[in-house]
Amino acid sequence: MKEIKNICCIGAGYVGGPTMAVIALKNPQIKVNIVDINADRIAAWNGDDLDKLPIYEPGLKEIVAETRNKNLFFSTDISKGIDDADMIFISVNTPTKTYGKGKGQAADLKYIELCARQIAEVAKDDKIVVEKSTLPVRTAEALKSILENTGNGVKFEILSNPEFLAEGTAVEDLLAPDRVLIGGDNTVTGQEAKDALTSVYGSWVPKDRILQTNVWSSELSKLTANAFLAQRISSINAMSALCEETEADVDEVAKAIGMDTRIGAKFLKSSVGFGGSCFQKDILNLVYIAKSYGLQEVADYWEQVIILNDYQKRRFADKIIRESYNTVNGKRIAFFGWAFKKDTNDTRESAAIYVADYLLDEQADIVVYDPKVSTEQIYADLEYLNTHSAEEIRSRVKVVSSPYEAVEKAHAVAVLTEWDEFVTYDWEKIYDEMLKPANVFDGRNILKKDQLEGLGFKVFNIGK
Ligand code: NAD
Ligand code: UGA
Repeated sequence: MKEIKNICCIGAGYVGGPTMAVIALKNPQIKVNIVDINADRIAAWNGDDLDKLPIYEPGLKEIVAETRNKNLFFSTDISKGIDDADMIFISVNTPTKTYGKGKGQAADLKYIELCARQIAEVAKDDKIVVEKSTLPVRTAEALKSILENTGNGVKFEILSNPEFLAEGTAVEDLLAPDRVLIGGDNTVTGQEAKDALTSVYGSWVPKDRILQTNVWSSELSKLTANAFLAQRISSINAMSALCEETEADVDEVAKAIGMDTRIGAKFLKSSVGFGGSCFQKDILNLVYIAKSYGLQEVADYWEQVIILNDYQKRRFADKIIRESYNTVNGKRIAFFGWAFKKDTNDTRESAAIYVADYLLDEQADIVVYDPKVSTEQIYADLEYLNTHSAEEIRSRVKVVSSPYEAVEKAHAVAVLTEWDEFVTYDWEKIYDEMLKPANVFDGRNILKKDQLEGLGFKVFNIGK
């Protein structure tokens, strides 16, 4: 079996950074180079202040402190990284296409293709190329075709090794994964490549949790896993709307069904809607793939998960408007949280962005407090939608660095992210600062409703 001594990872993002840091930590004999075209990102990974790494993940800075410049390196020299490596992970972004065929649904594979072309151009000896990015089923075929048509005699084995970590728990997920999935060809050299990658993970992951499959099953399993996870959230969110009409309590319903071991308790937390860079993108991609094979019913089935999620975000904004005497014009709404979930600074596809956008349509004034998200990120998220001008956004949306500042003279507080600290605030002080009636819209069902009502708040939940 080929022993891996040098790994290169192209893409120093939310997946490449933490995954390679853990691989380096658990394999001190392997040199791991993470390379990226984004020089600012690489500089931040190399910066002295570990509190300013480009990605916030609990436990990550400690691992970076232990491995950086020992066997973990960050660089913009992509060609050198490729040249030195026996194994190359491709961990670049695969966003939804915003142009041309498949616009709004298909995955944009231009970054993947650029990586493949650069690998093909630079490689002088045989390499194992690992798809770490989430990719449409059969992408390995295209990669193979690009890599094998260079005419320089270099042999490539292509593996699919999708990542299942969730943001906010990336380090814990990487240290103790439910499973590691490795797909590859069932040829002799394909098996050798699968075994080589298995041994990298084998340094810390028990053997029975490392699953080898064919490459297509591996690619499709990643899209399927995300579709199933998101589908659970849309399913419980659909029930939340029914709960609100019938005096059933969605948290009680979730508990009751989750105790059935066939259903399971996880991923049944009703919310303002799921966000994050992947669920929507991957389901849209699945829908596109199903359509491209003529499987319209399959496509329609999964598309409904997205339609329901959009409905949930809209429903939450509509409730804020309805309960504010049908107008939020000029009213101050304090947003607690902007990140798409707690314990991350990532805001991609966060429900907060869309709820804010709907409220801006109604000319609300929004004051945002999030413990980890920067002011410029919040403006950039809203400007990206292109529905309101930059001037309007900057005049109507204020970002503050304290929750108590956010609620001064506010008509309502809306909880958009489930940060733990929101629960422990001095809610009496918040009540005093707000205009009355003081409304709280708990989009995550995390606050203590009885206690808040005792203080005088009117509390609105999801699914209650
Ligand atoms: P990201 O945007 O945080 O990072 C991708 C990085 O790749 C960027 O820093 C970008 O500059 C770099 N890049 C793009 N093209 C490049 C090129 N040609 N050469 C060098 N660098 C290049 O993305 P991410 O969140 O890390 O996601 C990466 C992939 O992993 C996606 O396919 C995503 O679906 C998948 N994934 C993400 C998560 C998650 O939690 N974020 C989890 C599992 C899987
Ligand atoms: C998700 C998957 O959980 C990972 O396994 C996968 O690797 C990753 O996508 C990916 O492919 O990118 P992530 O998006 O980081 O991870 O975070 P999740 O914990 O899945 O949360 C996604 C969204 O769903 C968040 O907005 C969260 O608040 C929401 N959510 C989650 C709910 O509303 N209810 C729940 O019960 C769980």
